[in-house]
Amino acid sequence: MSILTTRRMTRRNFLASACASTAALGLPLPLVSSAATTRQFKLRAAPGQVRLVPEPYNQTPVWCFNQTVPGPEIRLRQGERIRIEVENALAEESSVHWHGIRTPNAMDGVSHLTQPPIAPGGKFIYEFDAVDAGSYWYHPHQRSFEQVGRGLYGAFIVEERDPIRVDRDLCWMLDDWRLTPAAEISDDFGNGHDVSHNGRIGNSVTINGQIREHFAVRRGERIRLRLVNAANARIFSLDFKDHNPVIIAIDGQPVSPHAPQDGRVLLAPAMRIDLVLDMLAENGSSVAVTDRFYRGREYRLIDLVYAAEGLREEPPDWPMALAPNPLAEPDLEQAIRHEVVFNGGMMGGSGSMMDMMSSGKVWSINGVAAEGHVMKPMLELKLGQSYLLAMNNDTAWHHPMHLHGHAFRVMSRNGQATAYREWQDTVLMAPRERVEIAFVADNPGDWMFHCHILEHMAAGMMGVIRVAS
Ligand code: C2O
Ligand code: CU
Repeated sequence: MSILTTRRMTRRNFLASACASTAALGLPLPLVSSAATTRQFKLRAAPGQVRLVPEPYNQTPVWCFNQTVPGPEIRLRQGERIRIEVENALAEESSVHWHGIRTPNAMDGVSHLTQPPIAPGGKFIYEFDAVDAGSYWYHPHQRSFEQVGRGLYGAFIVEERDPIRVDRDLCWMLDDWRLTPAAEISDDFGNGHDVSHNGRIGNSVTINGQIREHFAVRRGERIRLRLVNAANARIFSLDFKDHNPVIIAIDGQPVSPHAPQDGRVLLAPAMRIDLVLDMLAENGSSVAVTDRFYRGREYRLIDLVYAAEGLREEPPDWPMALAPNPLAEPDLEQAIRHEVVFNGGMMGGSGSMMDMMSSGKVWSINGVAAEGHVMKPMLELKLGQSYLLAMNNDTAWHHPMHLHGHAFRVMSRNGQATAYREWQDTVLMAPRERVEIAFVADNPGDWMFHCHILEHMAAGMMGVIRVAS
């Protein structure tokens, strides 16, 4: 892999998506409907041209929202209502899913399952309340491995009613592209190798749609950095070197502020991590952020470049903890337990691999390889009941498993209780790992449950979980 072969070309554009947080109203707002404000947005999915790679390379033909990659950042305040008109100007059907956001089922954006796909030239209006604060994102839920892979995604940020104090609140949407020497997207989407191994790993990593060299900071500055992994398959493990990143939220949900394990920020596809990053290095210095996930394939993601003059000598001592979102606490005593087993892939030890390969379905959940979004539910859950899913990754590969319509607590890994019982909507399972999650089935409807390595998803690693009274 010739990662970032274009890096020698310097590009001095700094990230432009800084958004200062504004003061909260401090008034409690109702959680459902009757919100005072409805925010309006328009998204148009269409082919476009964007500059992923600096000159002298050409622009890259992509599919994107509103002619940019990422699409426009949607930002609103917790408790507000949002109305988004989506127009499909692609040559194929599409839909938009609001990843991690607890919407009513009909607004979840899963083609065929929760709505008819949006036909080419068609429109669909999504409308829902922002019940939870946090960092989320949006992307099509129709042939996602190609539609997301060609650039259709954007950030969806719900600000707390009472945000924590920081100097800058930023979002970095990470993506990984497989580009040809002409800076075009390689069109080998869904090939058998990607599908049966670790998915479509690319060769060019972008932050907010550009290969970046530098990010300007000031000593003493405190940044809230919202990381979103929009890649089809690449997992990141970010090393901020002499900085001490503090994780304050995972998948949008607040967590007790803590240092990441081994100091590295692990971010699987579709996951989000909110960091508090205090800029501690010397004035005028430059510190590399390195991605170390794939052994032997470490690379420098970006340099934090310090201005000659700092903002303050010592980092601020402002509180970092975020107020929790209104999630129902699972009752572990009463929770009904279900076993979930993932199988398939190369080196999985599954005897029927050849049969699966010939059908194009390489992965399965509880023995079933999904075809499309509509299927018999793998689990039927009772509305209001607590559940514990004991998930078993019986494969040789990593899988970020995502459940729609809910957040769940990650209770244990390989029989060991997790330190923070993190609320997540996408949980990374290592090869052969066992992970237990718990949640209250409190959102009625048919919900997708799938691997967010989009090639795995397309090749069968999907199921439907039904919540009904
Ligand atoms: Cu990010 Cu089923 O989706
Ligand atoms: Cu997977």
